[in-house]
Order: sequence, then structure tokens, then C-alpha cells
Amino acid sequence: MATQAIAHQLALADRMSRLGTETAFEVLSKAKALERQGRNIVHLEIGEPDFATPKHIVEAAVDALREGWTHYGPSAGLPELREAIAEYVSRTRGIKVTPEEVVVVPGGKPIMFYAMLALIDEGDEVIYPNPGFPIYESMINYVGGRAVPIPLREVRDFAMDVDEMARLITPRTKLIILNSPQNPTGGVLARSDIERAAEAIGDRNIMVLADEIYSRLQFAGEPFSIMSVPDMQERTILLDGFSKTYAMTGWRIGYGVMRADLANQITRLMTNSNSCTASFTQRAALAALEGDQSAVDVMRAEFERRSQAFVYGLNRIHGFSARMPKGAFYVFANISQTGWVAKPLADALLAEAGVAALSGTAFGKYGEGYLRFSVANSMDNLMEGLKRIDEWTKKSLHQ
Ligand SMILES: Cc1ncc(COP(=O)(O)O)c(C=O)c1O
Repeated sequence: MATQAIAHQLALADRMSRLGTETAFEVLSKAKALERQGRNIVHLEIGEPDFATPKHIVEAAVDALREGWTHYGPSAGLPELREAIAEYVSRTRGIKVTPEEVVVVPGGKPIMFYAMLALIDEGDEVIYPNPGFPIYESMINYVGGRAVPIPLREVRDFAMDVDEMARLITPRTKLIILNSPQNPTGGVLARSDIERAAEAIGDRNIMVLADEIYSRLQFAGEPFSIMSVPDMQERTILLDGFSKTYAMTGWRIGYGVMRADLANQITRLMTNSNSCTASFTQRAALAALEGDQSAVDVMRAEFERRSQAFVYGLNRIHGFSARMPKGAFYVFANISQTGWVAKPLADALLAEAGVAALSGTAFGKYGEGYLRFSVANSMDNLMEGLKRIDEWTKKSLHQ
């Protein structure tokens, strides 16, 4: 196809140069391109459950479509869903949440976008985990904030060092992002760490974005939210949703829970962008919250079993080592003994071994020396992936 000559240069706004990306989608499309050329690829790059959405949730959506839930709804979400979410969050976090404090949005991600648009002025500092979900850093930069990373280290099982976090707080700190269980490391923040983080914040007027999208996928112990710490509720924005818990990534539905005055502002951003989350999707989410939860337990147990098997196998491969994650569905493997840096190694594994994984640096500069493998794939595929990596290292690494 001939490309048309460009008569007018694209005059992008400056802020677009500060926008980052989520590399998982780029690697996925590269892997798909190789498949179109006839190559066989083991997909360990994308972070989504490989399970189907539970049947009763799908049925609820089909019923909703037939019943005519095909129109606009309120920007903040359907009242019955906001009520069910308020009840769920009250119960799971041991606090009192009202429906006015809930905003339903298309996925968990928009809560990051809206919270930063609503709160961060030029030069405001945002402390965030690194390696961490890449959209945090992208959005902080996009809105003109100053991105202040807290390095997560393997020696601490990838839980942040609270004393280090405390030292990063300045009079310009506006927001602190916590994520547990964590993407990409599978690290979990212990209740004592979260309580000490709240103590370090003290009485300062700093908001916390608590990304708890993997809270139902914690392998041991009960997840603990900073929103449950006395005095922190009004300074916490809880991000949660349906994508990971109920294998609903493609439905695009999630929510934020926050003080009602901020919820009103986030709702204004919804009105200005999406108008509302799809109505029939919200009816399905209601069925997810109110229906049988056994599928969630099955998926969590399966992710734990696969993580164990993958970690075990990886630790037998020359140059690779990994700790058992404490939640979510990622294995963050140390590759420093391979003698390679992360990005070229991820590229070589894809091109030469047919295994798609993500460079740790896709999650920030402190991800150097690591690769992220998603175990949201069948045990057979995970074992095939390990076999290919093993063969590749035997061929390509000096042992
Ligand atoms: C830590 C974290 N937060 C939020 C999200 C976004 O979830 P959603 O697909 O519901 O927007 C993801 C997705 O990968 C994630 O890993």
C-alpha cells in the first residue's frame, strides 16, 4: 500500500513526549507477528488470567443485554453496583464505605489516570514502586509530576523498605502509590509494613493510591489495606476491580473507593471522558460480586501451583534464579548470572527460543537484571517454556 505524502507535520502537544507505555502489549504484538510467520511461541508475557470468565457472570451479561441494559448509565456507576462494591469493600477491609465513595470505571487503570489528573500539579512529587506497573510512572510524568521511585529489592522479597520510603517524603509529596500483591515481582506488603508506612506519613496531607487489584490472589495470609488503618481512610484511594479476580480483563471494569468529595471529582472526569462504564458489563460485575466465589479460589490455587513449578524449574537452569512469589501470577527471575542485560535477553529468548517474556526494565530502571514471566498459561506451556529456555542457555551461554 502506498503511503500518502504528508503535507502538514503532526504538531503533538509537548506532554505526549512524556507518556510511557505498557511493554506487554508491544511484546505480545511482536510475538503474534512471529506466529503469523509460522513460528511457535510460548506466551509468558501478558498479564491476564488464561481462564474463561466464570459462566454465571457471562450469563448475567447476556441476560442484561436481552433485558436492554444497552444504554448510558450514571457516570459514577449503577447505584446497585456501587452499593454492592461499598458492601464488599466494607467487609473485606473492615471499614465503613458508602456507595457515594465508589466510582465504577472501565478497568482498574483509569483510576490511576483520573487520580493523577485530579490531584497532581506540575512539580508535585509522587512516590511509586520501581520495578512497578509501568503506567504509574507514565502517568506521573504525563501530568507533569515528579516521579520518585522506591526501589524494590529481591533481598527483601520485593517488599518496599518503609524507612527508605519515609526518607523520600518531602513537603512536595502529594501521593504515594502502594501495590500489593505486586506486579511484576509477586511481592506482598505485610500488615506491619503498611502500618509503619501509615506512621511515616503521619498527619501529613498526602494521599495514598492503594492498588489492590491482586488482593484476591494472595497465596498466604490475609491481604491488609492501608485504607483499614485508622485515620488513613480519608487519605486513601483504593483501586480494585474485576479483571484479575474474575478473569474479566476484556470486559473493562474496575473501581475506585475514596472520600465522597474526591469521588465527585473523579466522576466529573468520567463524564468528560467515558460518560459511563458499559451498563451490561456492570450488571455482570454485580453477578460476580454476589455469586459463587469458588472460581476465584480455584484460580488462586492454580496460580500458586504453577508459580511453584515454574520457580522450581527456572532455578535448575544455568544463570536463572527466582523466588516464590507471594501473590498475583508473575515470576520475577534474576538473570544477572547469565551475563546478559534484561532487554537483549528478553529479545533473544523471543527470537531464538520462541519464549515471550518481559524485560524487568519494562517496569522501571530498578528492574534491570530481571525478567518477568507470567504463569497465566497452562502447566504444559510453562514446562515447554522452561525446556526451551534451558536448551537456549545450553547453546548460547558459556557455562
Ligand atoms: C498492578 C496493576 N494495577 C492495575 C492493573 C490494571 O487492571 P485493569 O485491566 O483492570 O485496568 C494491572 C493490570 O495489569 C496491574 O498489574
